[in-house]
Parts: sequence; C-alpha cells; structure tokens
Amino acid sequence: MKAVVFRGVGDIRLENVAEPGIQKPNDAIVRLTASAICGTDLHMIRGTMAGMKPGTILGHEGVGIVEEVGKAVRNFRPGDRVVIPSTIACGNCSYCREGYYAQCDKANPNGPDAGTAFFGGPVMTGPFDGLQAEYARVPFANIGLVKIPDGVSDDQAILVSDIVPTSWMAAENAEVCDGNTVAVFGCGPVGQFAIACAKLMNAGRIFAIDTIQSRLEMAQEQGAEIIDFNAEDPVEALKGFTGGIGVDRIIDAVGVDANHPHHGPGAKKAWLKTPKNAIEKKMVAPRTNPSNGNWHPGDAPSQVLDWATKAIAKAGTLSIIGVYPETAQSFPIGAAMNKNLTLKMGNCNHRKYIPMLLDKIKSGVLDPEKVLTQTEPMTSVLEAYRAFDTRQPGWIKVELKPSGTRAVA
Ligand SMILES: NC(=O)c1ccc[n+]([C@@H]2O[C@H](COP(=O)([O-])OP(=O)(O)OC[C@H]3O[C@@H](n4cnc5c(N)ncnc54)[C@H](O)[C@@H]3O)[C@@H](O)[C@H]2O)c1
Ligand SMILES: [Zn+2]
Ligand SMILES: [Zn+2]
Repeated sequence: MKAVVFRGVGDIRLENVAEPGIQKPNDAIVRLTASAICGTDLHMIRGTMAGMKPGTILGHEGVGIVEEVGKAVRNFRPGDRVVIPSTIACGNCSYCREGYYAQCDKANPNGPDAGTAFFGGPVMTGPFDGLQAEYARVPFANIGLVKIPDGVSDDQAILVSDIVPTSWMAAENAEVCDGNTVAVFGCGPVGQFAIACAKLMNAGRIFAIDTIQSRLEMAQEQGAEIIDFNAEDPVEALKGFTGGIGVDRIIDAVGVDANHPHHGPGAKKAWLKTPKNAIEKKMVAPRTNPSNGNWHPGDAPSQVLDWATKAIAKAGTLSIIGVYPETAQSFPIGAAMNKNLTLKMGNCNHRKYIPMLLDKIKSGVLDPEKVLTQTEPMTSVLEAYRAFDTRQPGWIKVELKPSGTRAVA
C-alpha cells in the first residue's frame, strides 16, 4: 500500500509499504477513506518535535471503513464507517475512565510516564505507524474507533479526528464563559476551530492574531477582530482594544514553531531578544534540515507565551494547546505568577469529545467544512505538505484521499 513515510528531518517520502495486520485481539484494521495533514506533522519534519524513527508512517487523522477486527473487538464489524481519534488509549485505566485519554497508563509501550501515545509520532509516543496510508492498524479499537452517524460526510468527520476536539479542549481549558473577551494566537486550523468553539461557549469579543492574510480573513469571517503581528504590536493592540484591562482568556494555538515579528513596531523589540531566541531554538531543535524554502522551524519558540502573559487580564486563564517538546523550557513564570493567572494545557483527550462533536455536526450546530480548504489525492501529498508548510495563501486545512475513492455519507 502507499503511505507517507518519515525518513529523516526534512525528508518525507510516498512509499510502497507492507499492509498492516491484526497483532492483538483488541486491534482493528481500517481502510482509510480520508486522512489529513496537521501542524504537528510539520513540527516533526522541521525537527522541533524530535525523536522520530525513520520508517514511521506519518499522520494521526483518519476516517475509514473497518476491514477486519480482532476477536476481542465486540462493538465494531467489517463495513462500519468510523473516525479514528488521534491519541491511542486503553479505555480501562484510571486516567481513561476519567476522560484523560491522552494520559492513558497502558497504551504507550514506553510505560505510564512516557506521555501521550498517538499515531505517526516520535519513539516516545509508541511509536505507532500513522494514518497517512491506505490501511492502518488501530490498537484498543473497542475505544479507539467511533462510528460516524449517517448524514456526517468524510469531509466533516476527518476534522473530528484531531483538530475540532483539540480546539474544543483549548476553549474548555481557557474557561471561556458568557461575555468573556478571548484572544486566539495562531489562525491555522486549530486556531480557526478555537474561534468557532469559543463562539459556541458564548464568548463576547474574540481577537485573532496571525500574519497570514488568508488565515486572518477566515478568522474575520467567523467574527473575530483580527491583528497582524507584523503590522502592529499585538500586546499593545489587545490592551488598547480592551480599555487597558487585557483579555480574559487566551489560547495559544501556535506552539513551538512560533515566529517573532519581522516588520512593524514589534520587530525592533524582537531583535533585542535575538540571543535568547537563538538559545531556545537550539534547545528545542538540535537538528533541523531546511531545504528549498521548506521545513524552516519558527524563530522564537516562546514568543506567544511571552505575548500572552503580557496581554492577558489579571486573574485570566491561559490555555496552551500548541505543541511544545519537553526540551522547551522557557515560560515567563514570574509574570504569570504575579498576575494570578490560571494555566491549563496539554494534548487533547480526543476520544472524550468526538461523540459530542459528531452530534453537533449532524445537528448543524457546528459546520467544520468551512475550514477545509484543500482535498488532495495521495499522489500529490508531498506537494500538499510543502504548500501547507510554507502557508501558501488559502492553504489552511488539507485533507488527503488515501484510496482515491470518495466515500459518501
Ligand atoms: N495539543 C494537542 O493535542 C494538539 C492537537 C493538534 C494540533 N496541536 C498543535 O496546535 C498548533 C496549531 O496547529 P495547526 O494545525 O493550526 O498549525 P499551523 O502550523 O497550520 O498554524 C500555526 C499558525 O501560527 C501562526 N503563527 C506563527 N507565529 C505566530 C505568532 N508569534 N503569533 C501568532 N500566530 C503565529 C502561523 O502563521 C500559522 O498560521 C500546533 O502546535 C500543533 O502541533 C496540538
Ligand atoms: Zn494533530
Ligand atoms: Zn488507559
């Protein structure tokens, strides 16, 4: 079968690989009808999420048809249409039973303290082969698959595999309540849905910060008040727009590959921090391999954390959903402590939110397809990766069609 394979930092390939088979009684084999590219995949290829094993199949978003189930899988059968949660969890341990699927004690073969297990990630996450492939083995399929209700299309369901639940958790962690002012840093797919989820939670004003015009425009279409960090200082802008108070709730939907401003009033301040940024960059990504304009890591890993702690209101809540590797150790703890901030963060407990979000889509409360800007056949996957990596105008969320056949709801 064809799959996207990680060969090294800055080196991914579309290869022919062996099809997976059932290895354990709780496994299922799924024929993927949709996959997608996530900002997290970019961290791995840019080297800011290190520890990938060459030969690992990438991708952690998937929708498909169950082909085969192990003998302990009693709630699914071949032919079922399913969405695959990105994180892998056992469903039995105390963490899973409390809904902390991303902190499962059993799913990660490296042990309970190794962190979140997920498809297509570094060695410390399993490693498990990913979902940018024609077929995938899903461990703990009893809990690791969710049936797609009739009336929900592949294009909608693929967004529920990872980014919609991630954004929902980001807004929930931000403690968004009626009337709150909310700022979302980063207008990639996760930021776009964080805006949508904050709206569903009755936020008052929502601000969106990025510098890619097509992404800012999409945020504005959702009703967010937009700020281009290369045109104005986002801290001054957010303070100014809120009468000097700052924003009640802030969501970091950028993560480790954050950039500092290269133009405008923020650029001069950023220049002063160049030595600090250089040290941080080296710590988070000891090996990088940019080539032909692709796979450049961000140049200021703690930029958003710095801005967020300055622009947030006293006693506000900062929700960090953008990914940071363990080697990222810069956080303005003094500023946060002295403002009585609440900090909440982490990998998404996807399985907890997926059934509820599928219901919201089926009933029309949430329309995720607006954020899906590209649907590409697997044969164009490398070009699609390159365009998403360089944030080409209009490229926001990219769906992949692994089998070439389009499943309809
Ligand atoms: N915690 C989880 O479970 C989870 C799940 C999925 C994705 N993520 C993470 O969420 C983040 C966003 O994912 P995505 O797919 O939307 O990624 P993306 O790369 O498409 O989007 C990131 C956006 O941030 C913008 N940006 C860069 N520097 C900025 C700055 N200083 N201020 C404001 N914006 C800035 C970029 O221009 C880009 O539009 C990534 O870190 C990804 O790994 C986390
Ligand atoms: Zn992801
Ligand atoms: Zn568990």
